[in-house]
Amino acid sequence: MPDQIGVGLIGSRFISSIHAEALKSVSNAAVRGVMSPSAGHARDFAQQHGIPLHFTDLDQLLSRNDIDMVVVGAPNNQHCEITLRAAKAGKHVVIEKPIAMNLAEADRMIAACSAANVKLMYAEELCFTPKYVRMKGLLDEGALGKPVLLKQSEKHDGPHADHFWDVERSGGGVTMDMGCHAIAFFRWLNGNNPIASVYAQMSTSVHGAKTRGDDNAIIILEFENGVTALAEESWTKLGGMDDCAEIHGTEGVAYADVLQGSSIQTYSTRGVGYAVEKAGITTGWSFTMYEEIWNYGFPQEMAHFVDCVQQNKQPLVTGGDGRAVLEAIFAAYQSAGTGRKVPLPFKTDVDKPYKLWKK
Ligand SMILES: NC(=O)c1ccc[n+]([C@@H]2O[C@H](COP(=O)([O-])OP(=O)(O)OC[C@H]3O[C@@H](n4cnc5c(N)ncnc54)[C@H](O)[C@@H]3O)[C@@H](O)[C@H]2O)c1
Repeated sequence: MPDQIGVGLIGSRFISSIHAEALKSVSNAAVRGVMSPSAGHARDFAQQHGIPLHFTDLDQLLSRNDIDMVVVGAPNNQHCEITLRAAKAGKHVVIEKPIAMNLAEADRMIAACSAANVKLMYAEELCFTPKYVRMKGLLDEGALGKPVLLKQSEKHDGPHADHFWDVERSGGGVTMDMGCHAIAFFRWLNGNNPIASVYAQMSTSVHGAKTRGDDNAIIILEFENGVTALAEESWTKLGGMDDCAEIHGTEGVAYADVLQGSSIQTYSTRGVGYAVEKAGITTGWSFTMYEEIWNYGFPQEMAHFVDCVQQNKQPLVTGGDGRAVLEAIFAAYQSAGTGRKVPLPFKTDVDKPYKLWKK
């Protein structure tokens, strides 16, 4: 095994900057190249992060023998195509959430990585978020008794890039974008017990001029072992990102707030340079986050995936987990479209989840 795993970043904007920062603390990883289709972006990104090579052509990055693993931070509608090409080139793949636009794509990605004998690792950072890892520890040691109700919510005032708002490129709104975190989180907490049913209520309540996707969603999952889980997702919440969870058990309860609960409560008449993701204005009171990327678990996530490649270990979150999350997302849109609880397994040939809601 090489001392260092060579990494190629695909994408050069929001999440790829986090990947680059996170990988700087992973000593057995060396980021050797970045690829992004817009001329100039990859070059500037490479310069900013001290990455030796930059490309606008994916095949050039994939042809490098010194790159073992790629980390995909491209829009949702590119995940499948990039993964298939990376697998064909023999690269291990870390794929951002949601895994793909539809279940057929997810199946093709899993099959291609399996056939090429490369790992497909699903980048769900909530499984590495230090506060949530500690919270799961409380559940696993029995301190909370048997889990009864799980809750998780992510809320901010809407994404930063056009492709999220365009359901043809994203596949759906806030359920696709952030509901995927909650569903993966619940499955992880609940030992990957199968989801029995999904019920969802969705609305486009504020951003109707901008998107056909949902900007608020309530999703209720029932697991086969009797645990109920409730996700609250919003693209209309002002004042910066919220990321909170609750575990209610027969012997106790645990509440965790990743961002505001860990932040410096700041009051400034001038505003602070940066408070937290999507803070908007920062005059008056704001929640000034420190070590934001670490508190989310991105360096821990990247360290785990690099270790899996180097030591040939089974990743904590795989393509199969990403597919299970996507299946529940499709069921949620079906539920929001019909007003009924949807049992799993849920099969559909529909190519994008939002179509099950906006029939
Ligand atoms: N885990 C998280 O918390 C998290 C947070 C944000 C985004 N994401 C996911 O990451 C992905 C990217 O989101 P983002 O916020 O970085 O978007 P972004 O718009 O900030 O960046 C997208 C990048 O992808 C590049 N790109 C576009 N088409 C491409 C192609 N065909 N091949 C290679 N690169 C291409 C763009 O040039 C850009 O550099 C999405 O799937 C999103 O859901 C995950």
